[in-house]
Order: sequence, then structure tokens, then C-alpha cells
Amino acid sequence: MHVIVTGGAGFIGSHLIDPLLSRGDEVLVYDNLSSGRMDFISHNLDDRNFTFVEGDLLDVDGLNNVMKGGFDAVWHLAANPDVRKGTTDTHVHVEQNIIATHNLLEAVRINKVPLIFFTSTSTVYGEADIIPTPEDYAPMKPISLYGASKLAAEALISSYCYTFDIESVIYRFANVVGPRSTHGVIYDFVTKLRADPEELEILGDGTQNKSYLFIDDCISSMLFGAKKRAERVEIYNIGSEDMTNVTEIADILVEEARLKDVKFSYTGGVDGGRGWKGDVKTMRLSIKKLVDMGWKPAYSSSESVRMTARHLIEELGGVNLVEGVGGAK
Ligand SMILES: NC(=O)c1ccc[n+]([C@@H]2O[C@H](COP(=O)([O-])OP(=O)(O)OC[C@H]3O[C@@H](n4cnc5c(N)ncnc54)[C@H](O)[C@@H]3O)[C@@H](O)[C@H]2O)c1
Repeated sequence: MHVIVTGGAGFIGSHLIDPLLSRGDEVLVYDNLSSGRMDFISHNLDDRNFTFVEGDLLDVDGLNNVMKGGFDAVWHLAANPDVRKGTTDTHVHVEQNIIATHNLLEAVRINKVPLIFFTSTSTVYGEADIIPTPEDYAPMKPISLYGASKLAAEALISSYCYTFDIESVIYRFANVVGPRSTHGVIYDFVTKLRADPEELEILGDGTQNKSYLFIDDCISSMLFGAKKRAERVEIYNIGSEDMTNVTEIADILVEEARLKDVKFSYTGGVDGGRGWKGDVKTMRLSIKKLVDMGWKPAYSSSESVRMTARHLIEELGGVNLVEGVGGAK
């Protein structure tokens, strides 16, 4: 298959392109490197089936030029994934997630690409009162601008599919974690502990309880779901089978960094202990649909967090700690 991967130099995208290349796909990555990094994909630069184009989805001409290449499918991962940013910048998710997706869909339509894979999110459900939340949960009422932008992008994709005979797979991810992640709670904690190994600021009250999925499970589910798709617009929830809370994550981080007496300071948060407005407090997706088809995550939430903590501590050059140093807990 000849495929284009938007956001292919990012955390999830760079992990996705390796198995695509291994199975013989010809892969073009289109990425503006706003959060993606060349060193995440540099190991593929010599592969004759791999092309990297530095480009922005908001650059319509640039995008259309690239899309003339005759692609069999688009994996659309490029986005601004920073949920919290929507509390201070009310434009970024509209531009990077809705307008950018619309630009891509136009290029898909004009260049007759038959298939689009899209990475959506659990935040489209908002504060669901059914947990684990199934794919057909309604009404969907996102509580963040990020969640709203992804739900809008899903709607655009669905409408393009039915209007212009395109097919799609929409993946609604829980929190995806693993090596190369550059955002999220684990990255935040490692960065903070490097700056101050004695005290860790925790956003909210620490009881935010969510599902975390290791990147290997995420990629295997995407490829599995792609193979099994049956509907014109196929939707899959993707997550682990349990949850872990933010204080437990902090404890894992402290253990993996081999620190002893780190003082946790809670910001207390807003609206009943959330990290920020729009932070969903409890999230676990029902993954029954994929499990019934034969896919299963290999790791629990806390195993995924622990493996990621280990990787990120190493990737970021350690936490610079002397064992046993730290304040009173
Ligand atoms: N990581 C998670 O926990 C998670 C959870 C749910 C959904 N998602 C979704 O999965 C996808 C990948 O997320 P990620 O964690 O790898 O994030 P990431 O920030 O590492 O990757 C996003 C990539 O898109 C690129 N990009 C951003 N805007 C662009 C634009 N206008 N034009 C071209 N390239 C652009 C960035 O440079 C980056 O390489 C996103 O769509 C995100 O919303 C991620």
C-alpha cells in the first residue's frame, strides 16, 4: 500500500510507521515538526520506501501537491493533542484539529484517496455516566475544546465518507503512553522531578482515575482494527482494561526514579479535584468490540505507566538523583 501518515514524526505516528514499513508499505510522512522530532524517524530515512516531507496541514497548496502522489490510504494523526491548552488558547484546536482535518479531507476528495484512518480520543464522550464507555454512548458532550475539536473532525470524516464514497476507521484512544511521548502526566512528572527531586506538584487532587495504554498495544490495536473493519465508518474504542489514578502514577514515578521521600503537593484543582477545567475525572473505555474480534491489550494501566516511566527517565537523561535524597512525604 502507498500511504501518507500525517503527524508521522510524533509520538504515536513514529511508532506506527515502523510496522507499516516492515510489512512493505510505501510510507510518506507529512509533519510540520511542531511537536514531532526528526530523531524519532531518522532510523527510516535510508529506507527507499520512506519519504519525509516537512509540511503543514494548514498549507493547502503544499498539502495538495503532496497528495497528488496517488495514495491508497491516509493515516491522519497530526493534531494538537494538548487538552489543557484549550483553557488558555481557544483557537488552537479549531485550527489544528478541525480546519487541518478539513484541509486534509479536501485533498483526499480531490485526489480520490479511498481510505482514511483517524486518531480520535476518549474526550469526545465528555463526562460519560457509563463506565466503561462503549462506542455507541450518547449523548456525546465533550467538556474540553480538544474533545469538541476531535468530535467535529469525526463528524467531518463521516460526512465526507458518505458523500464522496470514502471509507474510514476512527480510533478513540484512552491515554496512550510509552517511549517518545512528549506530553501527558508521566512526561510532566519526570520533567518536574528532574527540576526538583524533593517535591512534586500534582495538578488536581490526585484522584483522577483513567485508563493508560502502552504504545505497543495501541499500534497493534490500530493495525488489527484496520484489518477487521466492516463499516463505511468503523469506530473503535482503544484502551486498557483497568484504570490508575494520578497519585498512584506519582508513586510509580518516585519508585522508578529510586527516590525515597518526595513531598507531593496538590494544586487541589478545579470543579471537584480536576487538574484543569475540561479534565475528565474518570475515564475507561469499553474495548469489548475489539476484544470480541480477538484483540486484547497485553498490559494493564499501571504496567503501562511503569514501563513508560522507566523509558522516559532514561530518555530524558535520568532524574539526576542521589538515592535517598528528598523531603518529608
Ligand atoms: N497520546 C495520547 O494519549 C492520545 C490520546 C488520544 C488521541 N491522541 C491522538 O493521537 C494523535 C497523535 O498524538 P501524539 O500523542 O503522537 O501527539 P504528538 O504531538 O506527538 O504528534 C502529533 C504530530 O502532528 C504534527 N503536527 C501537528 N500539527 C500539524 C500540522 N498542522 N501539520 C502537520 N503536522 C502537524 C506534530 O509535529 C507531531 O509530529 C493525535 O491526533 C492525538 O490527538 C493521542
